[in-house]
Amino acid sequence: MIKGTGVDIIEISRIKKSVETWGDHFLARIFNPEEIAYAKAHTVPFQHYAGRFAAKEAIYKALGDKTLSWKDVTVINDKDGKPVCKIHKKAFKGKIHLSISHSKYYAVASAIVEE
Ligand SMILES: CC(C)(COP(=O)(O)OP(=O)(O)OC[C@H]1O[C@@H](n2cnc3c(N)ncnc32)[C@H](O)[C@@H]1OP(=O)(O)O)[C@@H](O)C(=O)NCCC(=O)NCCS
Repeated sequence: MIKGTGVDIIEISRIKKSVETWGDHFLARIFNPEEIAYAKAHTVPFQHYAGRFAAKEAIYKALGDKTLSWKDVTVINDKDGKPVCKIHKKAFKGKIHLSISHSKYYAVASAIVEE
């Protein structure tokens, strides 16, 4: 049964500016180590950070849990590259369907929560 949906869009330049200004402090506040490693493995990491940022926002909207924080969610990719997420909260038992896209300027993500 579908419990909620969420969508988010972000300017990649906003994430780039935060990374350039705050560096690892910004990254460590928002992202888990697997997410940072994934983005850093790409020549231009900012679109991957932005996609994950948008994914976390979309998941927050879809779950409707105001206590959820950035690092309660880890977005990884399966063997085909498809994004999947882990929620680090014992109370969550459902499944989240996630999709991410990025163009030159924007990253978008959508999330569907199924329980
Ligand atoms: C995988 C694919 C969909 C990615 O699309 P793209 O336009 O190159 O790139 P986008 O910016 O829109 O999307 C990138 C994101 O797609 C997601 N993605 C990658 N592989 C995926 C897959 N197999 N399934 C779902 N999502 C995938 C990832 O989250 C990626 O972002 P990330 O690397 O930061 O995690 C594309 O490369 C592809 O293979 N298209 C197939 C085209 C086709 O056969 N079309 C026929 C449709 S009927």
